[in-house]
Amino acid sequence: MSLTYDDTSAAHAPATLPEVPAGFVWGTATAAYQIEGAVDVDGRGESIWDVFCRRPGAVAGAASGAVACDSYHRWRDDVDLLAGLGVDAYRFSVAWPRILPAGRGEISPAGLDYYDRLVDALCERGIRPFVTLYHWDLPQALEDGGGWRTRDTADRFAEYASLVAGALQDRVRDWITLNEPYCSSIVGYAEGRHAPGATEGHGALAAAHHLLLGHGRAVAAIRAAAGARARVGITLNLSPVVPATDSDADRAAAHRLDLMLNRQFTDPVLGGAYPDGFERLYAGVSDLSFRRDGDLERISVPLDFLGVNYYYRLHAADAPHAQPDPARRSAADIGVRQVQPGGVATTGLGWPIEPAGLFDTLTGLAGRFPKLPPVYITENGCAELRDNPDPDPERIAFIAEHLSAAARAAAADDRLDLRGYFYWSLIDNFEWARGYGPRFGLAHVDYATGTRTPKASYHWLRDRIRARRGR
Ligand code: FCB
Repeated sequence: MSLTYDDTSAAHAPATLPEVPAGFVWGTATAAYQIEGAVDVDGRGESIWDVFCRRPGAVAGAASGAVACDSYHRWRDDVDLLAGLGVDAYRFSVAWPRILPAGRGEISPAGLDYYDRLVDALCERGIRPFVTLYHWDLPQALEDGGGWRTRDTADRFAEYASLVAGALQDRVRDWITLNEPYCSSIVGYAEGRHAPGATEGHGALAAAHHLLLGHGRAVAAIRAAAGARARVGITLNLSPVVPATDSDADRAAAHRLDLMLNRQFTDPVLGGAYPDGFERLYAGVSDLSFRRDGDLERISVPLDFLGVNYYYRLHAADAPHAQPDPARRSAADIGVRQVQPGGVATTGLGWPIEPAGLFDTLTGLAGRFPKLPPVYITENGCAELRDNPDPDPERIAFIAEHLSAAARAAAADDRLDLRGYFYWSLIDNFEWARGYGPRFGLAHVDYATGTRTPKASYHWLRDRIRARRGR
């Protein structure tokens, strides 16, 4: 079945929220390194992002997450914001190096206490915690031993997951193993734009595989530690890829990008196999010798839900490889050039605003994977570059249009069980290699003082959520 999205009406979608099923979860999301700061407090170990941020030129403005929104100390402000917004859920991540400063071995009780207090405060306010275990901050000690290139890191991840699940399982029901393994592997180990800043071929593909293996092992570990109550999923960033023109070469380029970005992750996790054409894409780049019998069974362990992060659609054109010799080529060098679509509005970061891509992503998943678990949109959001809490109508329109695309996808295909939407992000924060310029928050953060100020979009969303509940 092929479903199409009526773009014309979406472009003029009123700033109202669509009807959603009863029990739909409204939430917002953040991640540890982007908001916590306090990187050397209470025995936290170093993460690959602490190290990467010190590399000259790696991060805009030579910024780092050393202070960020200081949520390690100001978490009560964040919980107040959440309660004021009236969301059902908060997706945040646990910093592995706060719990196990060296990635393994000795546990830091102070690190666990921080999340323990946060979870308590959320539960007291009736906000359901969705805990992401890995949002990119690998303990540097593990990177020093090879990081995600090595199988050992997958085992260490499962141990860490078990530890956190055991500590919080009495109050946390919803667990997300990994956030966007594409970014951790391809952006971090092949493009070098994210920590650890490597530009490898084989190593990056090994990292992707070991992240997925770590996910599979962590699902089993969380269920063992947290019992039948636990609901476990993974969050993938998915972007439909559109050929820039109708030419065979551009179509082939779009297919290659789809394999690298989307299907390298969706197919093993949801279908138990790497996609056709994947080995051919990387012939000469890697012999894929990191794969072992039994891995795909572990990776495709049935999930309680899938988290989808959607920001934009990609437009791909054929291009020469930057490195002609496959043996020296990075895994991101697949002969594709991304092009900006004409006539499409963009966010402050220049990302095309195309809610149709969310519709296509959701209906595509439902069509391709017969056992697709329930889906949450675990991230979706837009950034502005201005530094003030002035009205942000572009954010309001962005949320309304994307929610409407998601609701239409659920209405169009009853195989899609859409359970919730988390806006990225609750507050402005450290936007990785882009530093503090882009502001994704529903609340503005004054980084000099730490003060949070709700933006117009915060009030708008609060009113819509309230109206939904008939309050
Ligand atoms: C996603 C990340 C998240 C945030 C948004 C804008 O890729 O998961 O941490 O940076 O992009």
